[in-house]
Formats: sequence, C-alpha cells, structure tokens
Amino acid sequence: MITSGLRVAVIGTGARSVIGHHVPTARPGSAVTAVADTTAEGRSRAAEFFPGAAVHPDHTALVAAGGVDAAVVTTPDHTHADIAVDLLRAGIAVYLEKPLATTLADADRVLTTAAETGTPLYVGHNFRHAAVVRTMRGIVERGEIGEVKAVWVRHFVGHGGDFYFKDWHADRRRTGSLLLQKASHDIDVVHHLAGGYTRQVVGMGDLMVYGAIGDRRERAGETMPDWFSMDNWPPAAQTGLNPVVDVEDVSMVLMQLGNGVLASYQQCHFTPDYWRNYTVIGTEGRLENFGDTAGGVVRVWNRRHEFAAAGDREYPIEGVASGHEDADLATMTEFLAHVADGGPTLVSPVAAREAVATGALAAESLRAGSTPRRVPELPPHVLQHFASRPAATEGVPR
Ligand SMILES: NC(=O)c1ccc[n+]([C@@H]2O[C@H](COP(=O)([O-])OP(=O)(O)OC[C@H]3O[C@@H](n4cnc5c(N)ncnc54)[C@H](O)[C@@H]3O)[C@@H](O)[C@H]2O)c1
Repeated sequence: MITSGLRVAVIGTGARSVIGHHVPTARPGSAVTAVADTTAEGRSRAAEFFPGAAVHPDHTALVAAGGVDAAVVTTPDHTHADIAVDLLRAGIAVYLEKPLATTLADADRVLTTAAETGTPLYVGHNFRHAAVVRTMRGIVERGEIGEVKAVWVRHFVGHGGDFYFKDWHADRRRTGSLLLQKASHDIDVVHHLAGGYTRQVVGMGDLMVYGAIGDRRERAGETMPDWFSMDNWPPAAQTGLNPVVDVEDVSMVLMQLGNGVLASYQQCHFTPDYWRNYTVIGTEGRLENFGDTAGGVVRVWNRRHEFAAAGDREYPIEGVASGHEDADLATMTEFLAHVADGGPTLVSPVAAREAVATGALAAESLRAGSTPRRVPELPPHVLQHFASRPAATEGVPR
C-alpha cells in the first residue's frame, strides 16, 4: 500500500489529456509531475495544461528520466500498444485510454505483458461509470427484468463529423475502424449488462456521407475543440476533413455471447442528435433509456401491455447533464486507488480486450461480405493472472 500521493505522467497532450486534471482530486497528494508528447504543439499544450510538470519529447525519454509511479496514456489509438508495453516493462502502472489497441494481436500483447511483469494495467472504459449505465446495471442486478437474453443498442453519433472525420480517427491505419474507436465503449457495456463476452460476430457497414466530401486538409497544431461547432450542419456541408477518410460512417454489428445472449449495435455518424439508446430484454421484462445523461430516464416494463410509453417504473438518470466528467473522475479515482492500495475496479483489462476483439472482428466481417467471425479466447495463463486480481463487487446502485 502506498500512503503518500502518486507521481503521475500524462503521455499525449491532446484533447483528452485534460483527464489528468482529475489526478489531485482523485487522490489528494497526487500530481501530474511529467508529460510527454512527440509534437512541438503538444509540448506547448503540455506546459499550459500541466504547469510545473517536466516535459519530454516522447515516452522513452520520460521513462529514462524516472520518478513516476503511474502514467495516463492519451495518445492516438494505434500507438497505445507499444507505449503501454514499454511502460509496463518499466514497472510504471498504466491508465490506457480506450480502445486498448487497434488489433486483437496488439491487445493480447499488452495483456500478456501485464501478466508477465505484474505491473498494474487499467483501461479507461469510463462509460461503465456513467450514471445511465450504473442505473441499467442496477435494474439488471436486482432482477427487475428477469434473466437478460437480448441487448439492442442504437448509437446516434451526431457529433461524428467533428469528432471522427477531421483528424487521425478517420484513417483506418490509426483506428482500425470506428467499431473499435467509438463502439468499444458500447461493446464493453453490452458485455457488462449481459454478463458474458461475444464469441461470434457479424458486421455490415459503409462510408455513406463523409467519403464524398472533397474539402480536406491537415490540421497540424489543432485539436478537436478548435474545430467543433454545433453550426456544422448538415453533415454533407462539413469542410476540412482529414486527408484520408476510409472508416465507415454507418456500421451495424450482430453478436452472440458465450452465455447465449444475442446483441446488436448500430452506429451512425451523421444523425442530427448525439446520444445512445439501449434496450435490454430479459425473461420477465425490458428496460430502455431515454437520454443518457442527467434529465434523461430509464424505464422498465415488467407487466403485459400494448404500447405503453411510460413503462411500469421509471428511474431518473443522475450525474452530469452533458459529457462524462463524473465518469472520468470515477475512473481516475479507481485507477489511482488500484495502483496505491490494490483496490478493486469496475473496469477490466480482460473486458477491454474482449471489446477490441469484438470490434476488430466485426470490422473484418463487414469488410468481407458480412461473413461471421469467431472470437478466440485469451491464453489461459493471461486470463488466470487477471482472474486473481480483485474485481468490483460494489458500486452498483441497488
Ligand atoms: N474514454 C473516453 O471517453 C475518451 C474520450 C476521448 C478520447 N479518448 C481516447 O483518448 C485518446 C486520445 O484522443 P484525443 O482526442 O486526445 O487525440 P488528440 O489527437 O487530440 O491527441 C493526441 C496527442 O497525442 C500526441 N501523440 C501522438 N503520438 C504520440 C506518441 N507516440 N507519443 C506521445 N504523444 C503522441 C499528439 O501529438 C497529440 O497531442 C484516444 O485513444 C481516444 O480514443 C477517450
């Protein structure tokens, strides 16, 4: 157990690196003491975001300088695996942003390294900590809808043009697909709600709107908040897309879980609205969320009806009214407690691997005529390592 604060590094000082600001609140006495970014713009942001922290040109220099206990990795997806492996080997505990990696082989490489070194690995699947997910999970755990048999997710990614088509996210070489980049949150939550992992997957998708936009440019020195605007509408009028746009903007996935649960996930990046809608159907009822932040509700139907909009019971969604600051603070708190005290975690590296496996194989399926793919198991010795670590048994509202 570490009783004093932790010295935390942030690697990759772009839009997401601001989660590092939660460090002192998440574990009083802890601080961001070092940062690394491979670009001059990133290093100047680093000095602005984390004044007083040592600034390094890359993670190798940061490791060589020593003096950090843990690192938060907020670099583009295709860099996650190599950076995480180097940090784990150096004995630095890792908070790795989702997705864990862009390929199944890389995901397994990171987990294998964590198992072999024993260095703590945490993957930032903050959506598990979102109030809407905690509320849905509570309903399932209390047995209000019986035994879960089907999960259907519709994901309206209204900010998709700004979030995913104006920088590296649009390039398959850097993300694999938006089923990894964006859907890994929801695949993880489908697994969390259904109590199993996908073993067979089929995908279908296309690049329908953004591929036809010819107005493209590099955006050196800019990050997403610089170009995000609610006035960017309709989607076909977007300008300044990434030079390479080859990820799908509509995708659909069918999943069969190891416990027999069937699930589906639909993602569209040119809807007018931005939110997720879950339906979880059990043997004695179903739930559905309307809105996914404060002000929204989760309704439960557990008696027979024809159309009944109000349901039989309704739970308000608590937390923030927009975005995910509350879930970000919860994940950072959990990570630092896990590193310092060995505390349990609601998120899990094995689950993060299963989200990558499902998303990567779904993308492979949709690019190969929707032919099914089987998801291979993790090697037993790696599974055993993570099974021996504490998992959260609390934190779910009852
Ligand atoms: N969990 C969530 O809710 C959530 C939300 C947003 C982003 N993310 C994740 O955060 C990560 C970063 O996303 P972003 O939007 O901040 O990207 P970004 O492009 O804004 O920032 C990435 C930063 O990493 C730097 N960088 C690139 N390669 C590097 C390397 N090898 N070493 C060190 N620095 C490097 C870049 O210069 C840049 O400053 C992604 O993996 C994304 O999936 C997660």
